[in-house]
Amino acid sequence: MHIDIITLHPGLLESPFQHSIVKRAIEKKLVEVNFINLRDYGLGKYKQVDDSPFGGGAGMVMTIEPIAKCIEELKAQRTYDEIIYMTPDGEVFNQAAANTLSMAKNIILLCGHYKGVDERVRELFITKEISIGDYVLSGGELPAAIFCDAIIRLLPGVLSDETSALSDSFQDNLLAPPVYTRPADYKGSKVPDILLSGHQKQIDDWRHEQSLERTKKRRPDLL
Ligand code: ADE
Repeated sequence: MHIDIITLHPGLLESPFQHSIVKRAIEKKLVEVNFINLRDYGLGKYKQVDDSPFGGGAGMVMTIEPIAKCIEELKAQRTYDEIIYMTPDGEVFNQAAANTLSMAKNIILLCGHYKGVDERVRELFITKEISIGDYVLSGGELPAAIFCDAIIRLLPGVLSDETSALSDSFQDNLLAPPVYTRPADYKGSKVPDILLSGHQKQIDDWRHEQSLERTKKRRPDLL
């Protein structure tokens, strides 16, 4: 998989790709992630990337020319499955969307700022608009990092235990069951006996029941 992230703040994006599972996926060459600084495509002496909105109003709007030039340059190098704009008015991201998008080969992510991008960017270039939830952040960088983490961990070979992504919360529309490790008794607070019993079938059934209970209680909308 190859991901190009167009951003005005590449520094905001660096850390999430330099640790843990995502870092290892990059090292193993299972994914390539490339940050493109939109400022490099800005207009004039000040490399301008935004302007005031036609019709008036507060805030600035990201202009079409720098974004168009950047996307066209990228499209000349490879064919993209999706060109995604991270925006709070996009489709709300979930595990099903992560599963589908983890099968893409090449993706562009465009991070918005200020009041967003000129509507014509969306009409002419964007194939999908994604929100990570019903709240507004200062820009699309943190949402882009979250999106990348969710899809990269699903790529074959990224997680050492191939089944571990399958037992994540949401993979079967259920929340994950509780987990425990040593010590079996912490100041009188004990691990459920079943988990120490060695009966794998009964343990699996218990975990499934716990998942159901937890989902009923916390997220009945998933059932
Ligand atoms: N940019 C700002 N807020 C966002 C959100 N909730 N999701 C995606 N992109 C955003």
